[in-house]
Amino acid sequence: MAYSKTQRELLAAERLKATGKLASEIAHELNTPLGGILMYSHLLIEDLNEDDPRRENIVKINKLAHRCKIIVLGLLDFAHQEIPQLRPVQINRILRNVIGFLEDHILLRNISIETILDPALPLVAGDENKLEQVFINLIINAAQSMDGTGTLTLRTDFPGDTKRVRIKCSDTGCGIHEEHLSRIFEPFFTTKEKGKGTGLGLSICHGIVEQHGGTITVESSMEHGTTFTTFLPVAEKDRT
Ligand SMILES: Nc1ncnc2c1ncn2[C@@H]1O[C@H](COP(=O)(O)OP(=O)(O)OP(=O)(O)O)[C@@H](O)[C@H]1O
Ligand SMILES: [Mg+2]
Repeated sequence: MAYSKTQRELLAAERLKATGKLASEIAHELNTPLGGILMYSHLLIEDLNEDDPRRENIVKINKLAHRCKIIVLGLLDFAHQEIPQLRPVQINRILRNVIGFLEDHILLRNISIETILDPALPLVAGDENKLEQVFINLIINAAQSMDGTGTLTLRTDFPGDTKRVRIKCSDTGCGIHEEHLSRIFEPFFTTKEKGKGTGLGLSICHGIVEQHGGTITVESSMEHGTTFTTFLPVAEKDRT
């Protein structure tokens, strides 16, 4: 049976909701035992002498448990488990900070970064750290899609009728296959080689943007690249 575009979007939204519920249940169940593994492996490392041959394996257990913890925290972000601390924040400043962290990243070395930031942008009700994480994930994905060279454009503006700030992150990369478009926000959906991507980046972005009462959408073409558009509500006192 052929589905219309709206039906496909509704199905994708339903699937995302169901996955979110499952993800949050799994993450909750894993969080406590993982905390135990981290703590006990840490205690063992402290107890063993530097030259103890068992040390190396326990350090590995501890490192792998850390990695699991990061995945669990990502799932909790996706599934809206934490209540974000919303304060009035300036999106342009967050974007400049993020570019500052990332511009020396090997992935971005030969990529030209263009910023078209509306200087009159109103403040957004946001959690600065979480919003930074959203743009870091989007920029890293964009850089990975360009595989070394291309243009990354970050644009902000305030379409006055929406009471929402718009942030567009565009790349001139490889684009996303039509059949993948409805799945990219699902946790663990990745087209990257094993070991290169977990498939959590965009699901975390989606969860964080939703916690802020915003939306994130994607448009992509295999010839021109991909644009992620995020809308975030302006802070109360900045509403017009
Ligand atoms: N800017 C982009 N251009 C092309 N494809 C993209 C872009 N952003 C995301 N994708 C596609 O969406 C998939 C999911 O992205 P997501 O960030 O969730 O996971 P990942 O990048 O594969 O892994 P992780 O972020 O956990 O390292 C990617 O594997 C890729 O196929
Ligand atoms: Mg990613």
